[in-house]
Amino acid sequence: MRMRVGLGLVVLISVFAFAVPRGWAQQKVPPKPFDLIEWNGGKFIFGVDYYPEHWEESQWEKDAAMMQAAGINFVRLAEFAWVKMEPAEGRFDLAWLDRALKVLNAHGIKAVLGTPTASPPAWLMAKYPDIAAMDENGVRYRYGSRRNYCLHNPNFIAATRRIVTAMAEHYKKHPGVIGWQIDNELGEPYCYDAVCRAAFQKWCRVKYQSLDALNKAWGTIFWGHTYLSWAEIPLPWNTLYKAFNPSLALDYRRFHSEATRDYLRLQVDILRQIAPGQAITHNAMGMYDGIDYSDLHTVLDFVAWDNYPMFADQANYAGPGLSHDLMRGTKPKQNFMVMEQQSGLPGWTTFWGRQAAPGLFRVWDYQSVAHGADGVCHFRWRTSRYGTEQYWQGILDQDSYPNARYQTVSRTGKELGQLTDLLRGSRVVSSVALLVSPDTRWAFQIQPPVKDFNYNQQLHHYYDAFRHAGISVDVLFPRSDFSKYKVIVAPALFVLDESLVEKLTTFVKNGGTLVLSYRTGVKDQHNVFTNQTLPGPLAELAGVAIHDYDPQVGQEQEVVATDGTHWPARVWFDILDPTTAQTLATYGKGYYAGKAAATLNRLGNGTVFYIGTEFSSPEPYARLVDFIAKEAGLPQLAGLPQGVEFAVREKPGKKIIFLLNYTENPQKVTLDRPYQNALTGESEAAEVPIPAFDVKVLTNR
Ligand code: GAL
Repeated sequence: MRMRVGLGLVVLISVFAFAVPRGWAQQKVPPKPFDLIEWNGGKFIFGVDYYPEHWEESQWEKDAAMMQAAGINFVRLAEFAWVKMEPAEGRFDLAWLDRALKVLNAHGIKAVLGTPTASPPAWLMAKYPDIAAMDENGVRYRYGSRRNYCLHNPNFIAATRRIVTAMAEHYKKHPGVIGWQIDNELGEPYCYDAVCRAAFQKWCRVKYQSLDALNKAWGTIFWGHTYLSWAEIPLPWNTLYKAFNPSLALDYRRFHSEATRDYLRLQVDILRQIAPGQAITHNAMGMYDGIDYSDLHTVLDFVAWDNYPMFADQANYAGPGLSHDLMRGTKPKQNFMVMEQQSGLPGWTTFWGRQAAPGLFRVWDYQSVAHGADGVCHFRWRTSRYGTEQYWQGILDQDSYPNARYQTVSRTGKELGQLTDLLRGSRVVSSVALLVSPDTRWAFQIQPPVKDFNYNQQLHHYYDAFRHAGISVDVLFPRSDFSKYKVIVAPALFVLDESLVEKLTTFVKNGGTLVLSYRTGVKDQHNVFTNQTLPGPLAELAGVAIHDYDPQVGQEQEVVATDGTHWPARVWFDILDPTTAQTLATYGKGYYAGKAAATLNRLGNGTVFYIGTEFSSPEPYARLVDFIAKEAGLPQLAGLPQGVEFAVREKPGKKIIFLLNYTENPQKVTLDRPYQNALTGESEAAEVPIPAFDVKVLTNR
């Protein structure tokens, strides 16, 4: 009986919440920043990815009741259900989805609907076989997987418009549908068919205006590849020796990223026109580097992404941490949400990881929140009985037993409900930023300097050192605003254009600290090698000249600091000739022993570090961070144990501290003073104990 009264109230509240016109719902473009908690009717988003079409209808009510009991107030639905919604061309059946929504809404659960274009139905692909993307060998992908379509195919575009319009018309005023997820994990495949080739040729024409300009920019005189008509321009497909022009290859990646954004925008435009009161997002992939997310996300109301931390060392929080921060940085003035949060073992053809202790799933949920998520939606509610993902665990297993993962999720759901008022309006605030360049990432995909080189590892060396010192890090892109930071770390900034050089120069001239590392300033914006002395256009800022370098495949060097400490180093050795910089460390071995390996250059109030190599251990990075933090006046947290993360969200007058223990041992962290436990309301001593696989959320009174 109590339950019935409760449900009635929930329904009343949700209908009322929808009937009250929210400010942004009346406008064409929602004002920024987007407030996810307001969007979800004042509730912290706590959800599951749910596939009602995989289960008997008789199961839906039981599922919804179990979800509600776990504090779940949000679902994502339908992103792979195209065939069920449009079983034949132009014939729609949304009645089943209406029924599923009715059951879920009655339990206080709101929905985001996925547009289903990531998995076109078999009938569509059979009728229009040219929808399938073509691989680099000229073979179209055969039916049977997903994400197998060509972005430019006119039949696919027409089919996309039809299904998105039908869904938008049907759900534009539905009180239980608060928004949309476009497609699913946009990115690949690259397509090499004639339609894409013609689209690329058109893109080149718009960009370069004349063939002379293109030939010059790409240096096509090399091997005599000069193009005399636009129609001659190839794609970077499979050629003999896999040889292709790196300039063409970089432009093709830019083209693909922009085409993906335009395909997303095509869907966004339909939804904005028909359903202006509903918000729009997409589920991005964290560190995935095929797409420039800083561009893609300009089209969306808010960022959502898919967080699967179980592939790595489970105590290494910096992996998912950097992904969260990078995702937050793609739309920097607001918080984001996790649309797929790992809830069990990963696997397709086999299991791909080892099981995590149930408590870790709660720690990962809190990590998302600590890095700025105002919503966590779990992939998936229940493990599938069918298809490719039978080994990819949801919260429940196929038998629906309320297992330990369900108990853990229920606990987190209740706690986040309790913490909502505190969290609302709070954000991550950082003085340090890591600069990630999409052009550089693509150029390294095309031509990595050596086999052992890994750009993300470069980012992690610096990022991890700051995080282990308890210092928050934002991620910037070349288009971001650099002005509010004290420190910018820009590892291996391979591709530079004039505007980026200018922004970095201004940053240093205004007193900022810039950290550069090897392979910086090597290429211009066309992926053409500079003819300036390295580090090219940043040589003056860095105060060094590089007249020789030594890529060492599988070898270790030795770096000697001025205080005599020795550190092993690997992958690459820039041999530095300081012009105005001072030497911080030299090489210990080989023909360049005694030459500079790391330098520091002062320019007015600004400082530029140049680190010419990659250290094999974390200590030198920790020392560098300690030095920078002291100079820039950044507070550090000493003695943070391995496997324990310290993260902070702030709002006026409030500091919210998250202490996250990813290890199987109880740990202790000593803070600057005692804080209040935000969940129990009790005071905690400055030395805070954190049980194994557990979390403390603390705040000032
Ligand atoms: C994600 C994807 C989901 C599901 C999950 C597990 O990348 O968005 O649809 O496939 O992985 O494989």
